[in-house]
Amino acid sequence: MAHLKKALYQAHALAQSVVKAGDAVIDATMGNGYDTLFLAQLVGENGRVYAFDIQELALQRTHQRLQEAGCLDRCRLILEGHQHMDKHVEEPVKLVMFNLGYLPKGDHSIGTRYETTRQAVEKALGLIADDGLVILVVYYGGDSGFEERDQILAYLNGLDARKYSVMKTEFINQINCPPLLIAIEKNLPD
Ligand SMILES: C[S@@+](CC[C@H](N)C(=O)[O-])C[C@H]1O[C@@H](n2cnc3c(N)ncnc32)[C@H](O)[C@@H]1O
Repeated sequence: MAHLKKALYQAHALAQSVVKAGDAVIDATMGNGYDTLFLAQLVGENGRVYAFDIQELALQRTHQRLQEAGCLDRCRLILEGHQHMDKHVEEPVKLVMFNLGYLPKGDHSIGTRYETTRQAVEKALGLIADDGLVILVVYYGGDSGFEERDQILAYLNGLDARKYSVMKTEFINQINCPPLLIAIEKNLPD
């Protein structure tokens, strides 16, 4: 078995190390609901998952997945752009997870976009608890293009280093643009 795991696997491992039963978390890009279900299982029956998408199809698929797994009651599925997450979430959250790109088995032209992603990351940084984490799995190339990746990296590069630590993990010699992983945490005073 390979020791170097893909970005999504590493994102889930990071989430597992941060999120505890009973926590509130946000899935900023619901899509087909795989991450929403993963987070719902992590927070347990007393936790909450706020999940966002702009496509009705994503809500339908996620609703079904959660219902089949018996995890629907702890999840709020919200049909609105993640850049408005602060309108729906009124408590600190342990984790905000983004999975950038388009809906698999959906319309490839309705993907995440830099401007709204940046706004959403800003909101996410305002919502996470002091010991919380923002995670982005960034799909790029092909139908997603490189624009959003390049712009979001430029934005994150400029985040105040006194306030935040930003980590990027990527394979540098693989073909087909494997997704990259970004994690952001707040720097706390010693
Ligand atoms: C790569 S998919 C997410 C996959 C998902 N995490 C899963 O487990 O199946 C990206 C999703 O982001 C959604 N999206 C695009 N712009 C958005 C926005 N402004 N706010 C919320 N979701 C958005 C797309 O509709 C798409 O379903």
